[in-house]
Amino acid sequence: MSTTTTARFDPAARLQGEIRPPADKSISHRAAILGAMAQTPVKVTNYLAAADTHSTLDAIRALGAATATRPDGTLTITGVGLRGARAPDRPIDVGNAGTLMRLLPGWLAAMEGRAFTLDGDDSIRRRPVDRIAAPLGRMGARIEARDGRLPPFTVTGAPLRAIAYELPVASAQIKSAIALAALNAHGRTTILEPAPSRDHTERMLAAAGAPVRRSGAELRIGPAPPDGLQIDAIAVPGDPSSAAFAIAAALLVPGSHVVVRGASANWTRTGFVRIARRMGGVIEGELERDPGDAIPRADPIGDLEVRGSELRATVVEPAEVPLAIDELPLVALLGCFAEGRTVVRGAQELRLKETDRIATVVEGLRGLGADIEATEDGFAVEGTGEIRGGAIASHGDHRLAMLGAVAGLASREGVEVHGMDAAAVSYPSFEADVGALVK
Ligand code: S3P
Repeated sequence: MSTTTTARFDPAARLQGEIRPPADKSISHRAAILGAMAQTPVKVTNYLAAADTHSTLDAIRALGAATATRPDGTLTITGVGLRGARAPDRPIDVGNAGTLMRLLPGWLAAMEGRAFTLDGDDSIRRRPVDRIAAPLGRMGARIEARDGRLPPFTVTGAPLRAIAYELPVASAQIKSAIALAALNAHGRTTILEPAPSRDHTERMLAAAGAPVRRSGAELRIGPAPPDGLQIDAIAVPGDPSSAAFAIAAALLVPGSHVVVRGASANWTRTGFVRIARRMGGVIEGELERDPGDAIPRADPIGDLEVRGSELRATVVEPAEVPLAIDELPLVALLGCFAEGRTVVRGAQELRLKETDRIATVVEGLRGLGADIEATEDGFAVEGTGEIRGGAIASHGDHRLAMLGAVAGLASREGVEVHGMDAAAVSYPSFEADVGALVK
């Protein structure tokens, strides 16, 4: 981020009212990329207006797709078809968007004889791409990265062959890159997941007529049908990861009562709500259940009603981590207020996010008075029933900025967040939306 702003969050007496979180970031990225790959125009309603997903629209335009936004906000994407991406004459700037950087090469890998360079901001330049280069390389593409693993990197397309690939980590980004490449590959690709991760790509590809099947931990994806991907419309639900900030604030400030409307209730995105409920958090509303081998065509939407709650500590086990990966900083904050010792295990992936979120969360919350320590694969928090307050730096990480804001509302003395503008990566109206709940 080029500019940094400081914002102060004073202790709230309580939070009350309704909130509608912004559109889902993961689904918006995918809607733009699938729209660019599709054979016929795709109408996207509620596309996320935020820095990360603007980067994705810029990227698909650079590849030849056209976009038009109507006054009511509906976005129409006219794509170039499965193999029609044109090579731009300069690098594609992914900005801060890790999802864009990891998914797009899955598509570009099949553009025979064309080369695409991807680059981004300082944070992106620290995030590994070898995790996608390995499977896409086995499928036939060539990916050359700085030091063999970092951006900027160049994808050179080639005819692709199907592979059987066991994911080394439960990552929806790696899974999705391979799934997109599989659409253009010769033969049927299989992906074995060590644990379930968000499944938007599978759902959206199935809705677009691609042959996608699940059998337990195995996902099989065949090449796209000859007439390509066909999706007329994609409706983006509210983002449960953005909603989690208001949910946490409502749980932590006694006497609060907040209704969260319109967020996805997809079971692969709602691990945080399940963890918070286990901690004693009062959150009413239905979440989707694991549909087993069935692949739903879209995300269900649900409302949640949250009340200020007395919390007890919990242990978050490795299998829960991918289902709550972006909300784990908030679990640390809940842990500060819970009775007992809250532990998160198996979350080493946090070190590879917009910042090393094990280090930045531990250092940030400690600076506010928390009794928290980093472990190799997560953190452990001793609940003291409060947060003192003070100052926290976002380090340009949107989720850290919003964590600091929520900590401030629940704190004794208030919190100053340095670099609050980072929130615009996923949630530009965060301060206004949460501010409207504060009484
Ligand atoms: C995302 C997947 C997750 C998540 C990220 C968005 C996605 O990353 O942390 O914010 O949209 O696929 P990993 O799949 O690498 O864990």
